[in-house]
Amino acid sequence: MTDARLDRLPRHVAIIMDGNGRWAKRRGQPRHAGHRAGVESVRDVVEACADKGIEVLTLFAFSSENWRRPKPEVKLLMELFMLVLKRETRRLDTDNVRLRIIGDRLAFPDKLQKRIRDAEALTATNDGMVLQIAANYGGRWDIAEATRRIAARVAAGELDAAACNEQTVAEHLSFAGLPDVDLFIRTGGEQRLSNFVLWQAAYAELYFSDLLWPDFDARALETAFTDFAARERRFGKTTEQLKGSDEDQGLPG
Ligand code: IPE
Ligand code: IPE
Ligand code: MG
Repeated sequence: MTDARLDRLPRHVAIIMDGNGRWAKRRGQPRHAGHRAGVESVRDVVEACADKGIEVLTLFAFSSENWRRPKPEVKLLMELFMLVLKRETRRLDTDNVRLRIIGDRLAFPDKLQKRIRDAEALTATNDGMVLQIAANYGGRWDIAEATRRIAARVAAGELDAAACNEQTVAEHLSFAGLPDVDLFIRTGGEQRLSNFVLWQAAYAELYFSDLLWPDFDARALETAFTDFAARERRFGKTTEQLKGSDEDQGLPG
């Protein structure tokens, strides 16, 4: 397996898989055809990331706002999620992938919740890539949940309110223990965050692709990785500091 850091590959990639509906519409097909076609891209991208040695891949499958869509589309998306979990979990397990579903799963039908639990349990001990599927997920929901858990622990006397800091919040988010997002990709041409990983993408490199999600594949991902590798991530420092030069470090005298 390649070392992601040495090759300037992102450790954590998060993707807003957008454009399924438009993809279908362009072909004169109903929106659900686009969602089905999108599953193929998911398979392609998951495999490519695992092969590359990416540590964490987080895919936005259904946002906390997507309930606002027409009922039949929401129903179809739930059914597709059920089907994909059933069909793909064994293969993920064989590939040593650990599957995590992040988001408010309590809103899902009982059968789907059970399937999620089973899929997570089957792959729980795998130590390869972590694949997070964000379903009924919202960045604000994640932060609000963390806040609620922290408040409960403070009230129970387990945590000192005065000692709560960024680390405390991070430890209570759904990504606890995983690296922050390095590369944030959105397909479908829109350039917005749509309430995805708000906290965890604080220093992510943003990459927008005009390709509609069903047209996005391992090659398109490779282009995103090449673009990422050429970025200079300064994290607040100066270019000179990053180059290790002792000139112009802003130090007095
Ligand atoms: C993304 O594609 C999939 C989900 C949000 C579930 P869209 O369904 O948003 O496709 P467009 O943006 O309408 O083309
Ligand atoms: C974001 O896409 C959610 C997912 C891809 C799952 P949307 O299509 O729902 O986002 P907006 O509404 O265009 O911002
Ligand atoms: Mg969309």
